[in-house]
Amino acid sequence: MFPRGRKLLLGVSGGISAYKSCELLRRLQDQGFIVDVVPTAASLNFVGKATWEALSGRKVITDLWSDVESVPHISMAKENDLILIAPTTADLLAKLASGRADDLLTNIVLASNAPKIIVPAMHPEMWLNPATSANVSILRDRGFVVIEPDQGRMTGLDVGVGRYPDLSKIFSEIQAKLQNNSDLAGRRIIVTAGGTREPIDPVRYIGNRSSGKQGFALALAAATRGANVHLISANADLPEIDGVEVTKIETATELLSVLEAEFPKCDALIMSAAVADARVSNYSQNKIKKNDFETMDLTKNPDILARIAEIKKSGQIVVGFAAETDSKSENLVKLGTEKLRSKSLDLMYVNNVTDGAIFGSDSTQGVIIDSNEKNIDIPEISKDTLSDILLDQLVSKLG
Ligand code: C5P
Repeated sequence: MFPRGRKLLLGVSGGISAYKSCELLRRLQDQGFIVDVVPTAASLNFVGKATWEALSGRKVITDLWSDVESVPHISMAKENDLILIAPTTADLLAKLASGRADDLLTNIVLASNAPKIIVPAMHPEMWLNPATSANVSILRDRGFVVIEPDQGRMTGLDVGVGRYPDLSKIFSEIQAKLQNNSDLAGRRIIVTAGGTREPIDPVRYIGNRSSGKQGFALALAAATRGANVHLISANADLPEIDGVEVTKIETATELLSVLEAEFPKCDALIMSAAVADARVSNYSQNKIKKNDFETMDLTKNPDILARIAEIKKSGQIVVGFAAETDSKSENLVKLGTEKLRSKSLDLMYVNNVTDGAIFGSDSTQGVIIDSNEKNIDIPEISKDTLSDILLDQLVSKLG
């Protein structure tokens, strides 16, 4: 199984075996990939756009002149962890080898630094033609993985090498390219997740809508990258993660006391938990009667990150999260930058939670604020993908 939520771009060119990529797409999704399909114009003669949209569950763009305002060839080139082109025709191999960019797919390939896997499928004469062989060797020299086609029966009666390979061959190449990165090996990382609850009486509490999904995704991603992860979970109802130590807490005060003990031992703290800003001043041992439940005295909770800043040693990295309800990106950046400074953070992720968005969802959207002012706008992506992007930033800060 691959880490959940990795983004993969599936290019499809105009060969009869394009229909086999429908099954490939399904299997990629089963493995946890979010797949954007980019069919070439010729391939639409074999499998139509509607099929790709229905199967991928995502909008499919087929040319350079749609959605121009979002510059899709650049955003898709950046967003995807891997480009897989199956089937790849002899013509597309030639275009890629000569660096041409005259349609959406070839533009994306040229603009992307992601690993690229090519799955040629064509008649044996075309595959064995010296022109095709030369193109394949150019692409291999440039780091493309070109999978050898299978032997067997072609579309007509002819037999030879050129068939769309068995899917297991494609998956083992993907596995090899996306081998787990161990850039956090030897690092101890604390991740806080969920939302604190501040009890009012034995029945009621002050809480918030944080589900813990983002914190759990971060813990999984950090563990996958080799970190020794301590997850401090505040009321999150999510399955445990293999190999990750978990401490369950309920209130902000408990969270602070666990962090005061644990933070000095870690390389980085990712504070994704939503901490209640206040607790009741007088907890009632008995359930407060309905008629007496009118007002509450509140006491401000400690700002945990402010306390962490006081004990932070040089080399330790602290990442904060913020949930804001301002739909203007520049305001999110302003609010995030102020918080990053006031809490002495190295990185901050500001979620735009207008209308209850993001809480409980598998996807997120916002902006990463960096203490070096290299902010990154995050379009709607999965919480798993955001985790990897944030960890990339964290790794570069850890040095
Ligand atoms: O100031 P605000 O609550 O928006 O900041 C959010 C960040 O601060 C989160 O990372 C949250 O975990 C942390 N926080 C904290 N102590 C509090 C409230 C929030 O550490 N009392």
